[in-house]
Parts: sequence; structure tokens; C-alpha cells
Amino acid sequence: MMGASRRAFLSRLSRSKGFRVEDTLSQAVTHIVSENTSGEEVQAWLESQVTERGDRDTVHLLDITWFTESMREGCPVSIEDRHRLRVPEPSTQSAGNTMDSYACRRRTPLQHHNMVLTDALQLLSENAEFCENEGRSVAFKRASAVLKALQGPVCSLEDLRGLPCLGEHSRRVIKEILEDGVSSEVECTQQSEKYQAMKALTGIFGVGVKTAQLWFWEGIRRPADLQTFGKKLNRAQAAGMLYYEDLSTPVTRAEADLLQGIVGEAVGAVLPGARITLTGGFRRGKQTGHDVDFLITHPEEGREEELLPKVIGWLETRDLLLYQKIHKNSYLEAKEWPARSASNMDRFERCFTIFKLMLPRVAHQGSTQAPRAPEAQEGGTGESPGWKAVRVDLVVTPISQYAFALLGWTGSQLFERELRRWAGQEKSMSLSSHALFDSTRRQYLRAASEEEIFAHLGLEFIPPAERNA
Ligand code: UTP
Ligand code: MN
Repeated sequence: MMGASRRAFLSRLSRSKGFRVEDTLSQAVTHIVSENTSGEEVQAWLESQVTERGDRDTVHLLDITWFTESMREGCPVSIEDRHRLRVPEPSTQSAGNTMDSYACRRRTPLQHHNMVLTDALQLLSENAEFCENEGRSVAFKRASAVLKALQGPVCSLEDLRGLPCLGEHSRRVIKEILEDGVSSEVECTQQSEKYQAMKALTGIFGVGVKTAQLWFWEGIRRPADLQTFGKKLNRAQAAGMLYYEDLSTPVTRAEADLLQGIVGEAVGAVLPGARITLTGGFRRGKQTGHDVDFLITHPEEGREEELLPKVIGWLETRDLLLYQKIHKNSYLEAKEWPARSASNMDRFERCFTIFKLMLPRVAHQGSTQAPRAPEAQEGGTGESPGWKAVRVDLVVTPISQYAFALLGWTGSQLFERELRRWAGQEKSMSLSSHALFDSTRRQYLRAASEEEIFAHLGLEFIPPAERNA
């Protein structure tokens, strides 16, 4: 936490005296020394590093005086109060900012006051994902989520004082935007060939970061290049190309409601009493999404088995699906943790689908792939009732796991990650979309509602609309 050449000099000096100096934070680090940097800044930097290191309370945050004295002595001098950086307590921040560093302990509404800043940080997060730098991607997401939870707009760097999860890099980006209106790094990234190609290629259904990267290295930049390069596509990717335009058009809340009606009818027809719940972003109150997520269950444990193939069959008979692939995720608690009898085998089925959603005449807002199937051409008013390809995720869960699945599929992705981090680091528990395991008591904790899971975790309940971290 000092200039590069001074740091290099001091590093050489201390190594010559037998000290071990690291450039990045790792488990091996015991002392962090800074110069001309406030305790708050060092703390914020440390907060942004938590993915690599959980036990950050055991590391000493020290002023340069401890270092120079240790150099003089030729060994680490014992730490005295005057050596320590003054770090504000997390819950009693100085500038009136009291924010928890865990996103699952904050309320994050959909609408907030820092859209320009969060869009910038999210773009950098996305770009880090495209470079497979997960640590950096999560750090930017955390920084962005902190700004989303603020009560008002950030107008100066002063407003960031005491806030967690804002690393050096994020602060630099925020500073640039506050001063110049834009961040040169964000602008450059957005304009870069790599970012644009990765964005377009990962936008194809069935294409992940790894595949897109391989293609990028081969010179592919746009979906249209795939044919030129003679690329072989799997079934999902072929469907992704066929419906590319529709699938890149956000799904509206109205379309999600239409789909809820259709899926609800299908489920009710093949298994009376079965219920569906809209999860994902729409449950958090979003007005648009990249897909629609449904959770399906039956109040009687076991009745949900074999439900998904029947639902898919019902939908296919009616020509409502353009693509479907069932993933049969057998989930066995006994296999994951040795604490429970193997006879209790739980099932967790998932189906990725692309629906052919018939749009009512009025709601149809000029789908980009018309004209299509002849049935879409009826009427002859020139205003054809078209259809739209929409991604729908169907997940079936036994009722005993329903609360965990509901919590796990509601998101946001960062909120989920933070819940699991809280469970693991603070409670020695392991949370998944199936169950909650308490490692201390070596037992599973049952829950029939999301509220009970929050209670098991010692967390205040956060309603879905405030999980938009
Ligand atoms: P989505 O990717 O659908 O996100 O996953 P979303 O919040 O609904 O956003 P949009 O509007 O579609 O873009 C929904 C939730 O499901 C979980 C994610 O963690 C997220 O919280 N999920 C998703 C899984 O648990 N596993 C998966 O394989 C995918
Ligand atoms: Mn979704």
C-alpha cells in the first residue's frame, strides 16, 4: 500500500534481513504494512480480498513505523498500539455509513440511486468473468452491491468513507466517474474487441465462457462467423443460433405471467395438486429477465418423482417447446455428507427449455423474427399475432427441500453467494439449494419456509424484493 518503487525498495531491504514479503494476500500473510493510507482504506482493500482468505481478523494491520523499527532491529518487533492502523468497527462507521460487509445482511432494493456507478462496476465484473478471473469478478460485484444498498447517490469520495467491499480498483473507477463523468477503463473495456465478441458469443444459448474463449482465439467475433468457420454446434447451441434475436430480447413480466399460466396448466394436468412458483429475478420484482425460472413441487413428498418428463411431454404434444433438455440431478445427502442414511435419496430435476410463446395480438411488440410459422399469419389484418422464443428453466423439488430450492433459485446470484459465505465462515454451516448442514452439530437443519432458513443462519429475514444485490 505504497508507491511501487518504494515498495520494491522496502521489499528488497526486508528480504535481505530474512523477512518474507508477499505481493498478494494469502494464508501465509501475518502482517500488512501501509504508508500514507488510512486504516479505513486498508480495511476496505482487505474486505475486497475475502474470497481468497476467510480469517482476515487474524492479520495485523500496521503502520510503516512497525516496519522501520523492525528493519532496525533485524527482526519483527512486538506490536504496540501506536503501530496499529486505526480501523473503525464495521458496525459503527464514522461518516454515518453503517453497512454490513455481507450482502445477505443488507436490504438491496431493485431501484437505487447509483445506477451509473453500478453499471460501470458490473461491466468490469462481466469482463473479468470473460477472462475467467472469478475473484476479480466477484470483487466488482460486491462493490456494486454496496452502492446499490446506499440510501442516496454517491456525490464524492467522502460518501464512500467507511463502506465495506470497496477495493482500491473500484474506488479508482468511482473516482474517475465522479470527476470526469466516465471511467476510461470502463470505456476501453466496453469498446474492446474481446469484450464485444465475448458478450455476443456468450449471448448464444448453450455457449459458456470457455467455449466463447476458444472461438475467440480462433478468430470468431460474431455469431454469424460460426457458419463461416464451419463450426459444429451441439443441439443447444444450434437452437441458440436459430432463436438468437428473440433470446437476446429481454423477457417481460407480462410474458412471464403468460408462461406461468401455461406451465401451471401443464403441471396441474399431469399431477393434480402439484404447484408452481415463479422464482429468479421476477420474484425479486424485476420487470424483465433473460429467462423465466419456475420451481415445481407437490405437497406430498415423493409425488413429484417422474413429474418433469410428463410435463415436458404435455407441452410437446401441444407444440409449445422449441427446445428441451432434462438434467437428472440425483442429489444424495449421504453422499455429500456422511451424516444421514443412504435410504433417503432425494431427487432434483431440472429442464432447460425454449418455449414457443404465442403472443396475444395486443401484447405483440414486433418480434424480430417474423414472418414465421403459417399459423402465425392468420387474421390477415397485417398485424400478425406472432410468437416469441423464450428461455424457461423448470426445476422440480421434493417438498422437504422446497424452502431451500426457493431460497436458492430466487437469487440474486451474489445474494446466494453471500448467504453461503455467511453460513460457512460465520456459522460453520453448509447451505445449498437442497439443504442446510450444521458441521458443529453434524446434522441437517430442516426448514419449511425461507424464514426458517434465515433463522437457522442467525440472519434477519430479507424479503425477495430486497435481495437484489
Ligand atoms: P438466473 O440466472 O435466472 O438469474 O438465476 P436471475 O436473477 O433470474 O436473472 P435474469 O433476470 O434471469 O437474468 C436465478 C437464480 O438461480 C440460481 C442463481 O444463483 C440465481 O440466484 N441458479 C441459477 C442456480 O442455483 N443454479 C444454476 O445453475 C443457475
Ligand atoms: Mn432468471
